Amino acid sequence: MARKRTAILISGRGSNMAALVWRADGEPDFPAEVALVLSNKPDAKGLEFARNAGIPTAVIPSKDYGKDRAGFDAAMQAELRANNIEIVCLAGFMRLLTPEFCEHWMGRMINIHPALLPSFKGLDTHARALAEGVKFHGCTTHFVTPGMDEGPIIMQAAVPVLDDDTEETLGARVLAEEHRIYPETLRLLASGALKIDGRRVKSG
Ligand code: GRF
Repeated sequence: MARKRTAILISGRGSNMAALVWRADGEPDFPAEVALVLSNKPDAKGLEFARNAGIPTAVIPSKDYGKDRAGFDAAMQAELRANNIEIVCLAGFMRLLTPEFCEHWMGRMINIHPALLPSFKGLDTHARALAEGVKFHGCTTHFVTPGMDEGPIIMQAAVPVLDDDTEETLGARVLAEEHRIYPETLRLLASGALKIDGRRVKSG
């Protein structure tokens, strides 16, 4: 079966992007290939990794578009179309997408969030988890819908919160799980295993 052409959208470090690339490149039978890394920030660290890995990259600076979200999303859409992209993975992509863009990619666009959704949507999730005193924290992969961090949940991984945890130590424990579940989520999606049933996603 042809591998699904996948774009990864980044804004920064790109460690989840690297995890996706390693898994896709490392397994001959992996059902997706990373065909494009697109950044809205010209200086995103992850771009360097992608270039070194020989993956086509594109930069569409969102600051050039200011508040014109529709214009920015149209530019991204054109780039995705030009590269025959079938699946979109958001990986630390720090820009809200228009409802139209989300509708277009519904069921084919996924995100990773560093918390156990629906708890701790938004930013600074590790600091907020510590402040709330939760005993378990973690990460979530989900389909992207117009509401931020709201789409149907695909996979989650939980980690214990330890007494001496800081934002950094807890974040590192969560990140290790992100790097495990995001590639697995992409595998499930690209192989056609995921079925959306209302808020629930089934992979049986
Ligand atoms: C990750 O924690 C991810 O869950 C969140 O943004 C961070 C991006 O890190 N959406 P990286 O760029 O993948 O290293």
